[in-house]
Amino acid sequence: MKKYYIVAIDGTAGSGKSTIAKGAAKELNWLYLDTGAMYRAITYKIITEKLDYQNEQLLKEMLEQTEIDFRYHSDEAVYQIYLDGKNVTRVIRNPLVDKLVSHVSLIPIVREKMVKEQRKIAQGKNTICEGRDIGSVVFPNADLKFFVDCDLDERALRRKKELGESISYEEIRNNLIERDYIDSNREISPLKREKDAIYLDTTNLKINEEIAIVVLLIKMRLLTQNSFI
Ligand code: DC
Repeated sequence: MKKYYIVAIDGTAGSGKSTIAKGAAKELNWLYLDTGAMYRAITYKIITEKLDYQNEQLLKEMLEQTEIDFRYHSDEAVYQIYLDGKNVTRVIRNPLVDKLVSHVSLIPIVREKMVKEQRKIAQGKNTICEGRDIGSVVFPNADLKFFVDCDLDERALRRKKELGESISYEEIRNNLIERDYIDSNREISPLKREKDAIYLDTTNLKINEEIAIVVLLIKMRLLTQNSFI
């Protein structure tokens, strides 16, 4: 029976884990599963529909009627996220979503639905899955786990470059502090460094170096794993 591999990449907000996961998946020709984008898509829907997400019944109904999927765009060789059939890859990165997403992702029924979907999406595919609870909850038996981290000021600088003049450096930095705090201290599936995860600090690394390190470690893991089967 063919075995499919799962690589779990968790880490702090803005540490570069998305860039690494996306780049490594592209190089290996694997599925890149961006679970943060899924929580962002739900948050985006809450914002655009002005949904009272504290109302559990309303939220439950909305989740039941929501479809999230990833589609491959061969022109750019990337996966993009679709919410109810619409490409939301860009709009889910706006500062309003940044502000609310940590709060929405605290809600148990949201997490239940997302984790179920994530396992379904990765089924039968070589996947690099990235998020906060991947190595701990979604795929505890992943073939390889990483925990990506980076100095706070460097993370804020990188995000500022991405967002431009729409938001100040201080606001970005404070948002990162708040998200890290909420993500790491929530009761359900907090962000934590698993004992079997490789710790990767990207503060002084260039993007191509981070990706090269991760791809190399994945290849080494697969080679040594296969030789013992
Ligand atoms: O990786 P990101 O910044 O796009 O993630 C957005 C938010 O989603 C993050 O603040 C916490 C939440 N998240 C989560 O709770 N669990 C995941 N597996 C991925 C993201």
